[in-house]
Amino acid sequence: MTLTDIIPSLRSSLPARLDTGVWPRTAHWGDAGDLRAGGVSLAAVAAEHGTPTFVLDEEDVRERCRTYAGAFGAGDVAYTGKALLTVDVARWIAAEGLGLYAGSAGEVRVAERAGFDMGRVVLYGSAKSPEDLDVAYRAGVGTVVVESMGEITRLAATAPAGQRVLLRIVDGPDRRFGLRVAGGEAAAAVARIAGQPGLRLAGYDCSIGHQLSRFSQYEREISRLCEFASVMYRAHGVAPERLNLGGGHAVAYRPEEFDLALAGFATRMRSVLHLEAGRHGLPAPRLTVSPGRAVVARAGVTVYRVLAVTRTQAGDRLVAVDGGMTDCPATALCGSRHSAVLIGRTGRAAAGPAVVVGRHNDADDVVVPDAELPADVHPGDLLAVAGTGAYHHARATNFHLVRRPALLAVAGGRARVLVRRESLDDLLARDAG
Ligand SMILES: Cc1ncc(COP(=O)(O)O)c(C=O)c1O
Repeated sequence: MTLTDIIPSLRSSLPARLDTGVWPRTAHWGDAGDLRAGGVSLAAVAAEHGTPTFVLDEEDVRERCRTYAGAFGAGDVAYTGKALLTVDVARWIAAEGLGLYAGSAGEVRVAERAGFDMGRVVLYGSAKSPEDLDVAYRAGVGTVVVESMGEITRLAATAPAGQRVLLRIVDGPDRRFGLRVAGGEAAAAVARIAGQPGLRLAGYDCSIGHQLSRFSQYEREISRLCEFASVMYRAHGVAPERLNLGGGHAVAYRPEEFDLALAGFATRMRSVLHLEAGRHGLPAPRLTVSPGRAVVARAGVTVYRVLAVTRTQAGDRLVAVDGGMTDCPATALCGSRHSAVLIGRTGRAAAGPAVVVGRHNDADDVVVPDAELPADVHPGDLLAVAGTGAYHHARATNFHLVRRPALLAVAGGRARVLVRRESLDDLLARDAG
């Protein structure tokens, strides 16, 4: 039972509780309903930079990097940039000692501009374009993940001599790319790589899903990979130097949800690896991970301004904000349920259910399907939505020719633009008409 259950009138005068597992590490309530992160007022950010704006708590990202480095060893963690990559984010990742999984020429170029040690960059992708490969080779990426049979011949013909490769192994009918163990495809791929003097098989890689919180799925994967690797060891004499377990680590978007328990996970995975490698007579490879979402999701907050409040015929209260599915695609695509709070003012109105929707005239345009917001929320108010650091800025679109928001870093009492807001001229600049 909480204080507001005992004294219901308090509900109207207390700001919503900020759950530390959901909101950025440095987030806390300021005066007059202001929400602060990185020592910066988010209401002031909205006033100065406009809305919607993505705000990223630099300390939160760095702290997540350090937690991963502490659990696995920094050399055995690579951040998967598709969750969110800008030049500064890449610099933070590098400064904390992590490597980078890059999935395109664009991500490689960002890493280069950030001054990333390119030997710590892994190029992956189920269908790499000639440009992806060309840019990666020129940049000198350390490792390339092989994800289909045809790619081996292509890499052998184009990669610099001695290119290190990882082979992505898949299991299960719903996985689209990678090499299957069943049916002998993965074994044939190892044989083919072993026959290419220009390629060096450094190990195996996998990606088994997203938002996973149970250790058992990863344990099964380690067991499968060790079994396969040991057969290849005996057949070709190639012992994997590393085994990448991918990412997919769960993050909490709501107070009632849980993160993957990282410290216990690392210890458990290492012991399962040693056990399974020993059982199969395989020299134990290094265990690596490549989390994306779990590094940056919690650090992100999106600040919106309310544009309209209305009710549906069924009586549901709709609070429409100045962004939506173009900057918060995860709600429609993955059913993510973010937390939202009113910021920038206090009020006496009791909280009640509200659907936070976007401005895009589309039935799927929902930001938060089940928010709890004060009854007097009105146009002009500011809302902050938590957990938007991963796959939001990265997946933002121009649907409806809406401009993509700015991305700001907050740290040490200062807000800094990482990526500026698009202008109407930006939108028209690519239109050849
Ligand atoms: C090898 C690998 N690691 C990590 C990820 C990122 O997953 P998440 O953001 O859920 O950690 C992917 C994405 O598909 C991946 O292919």
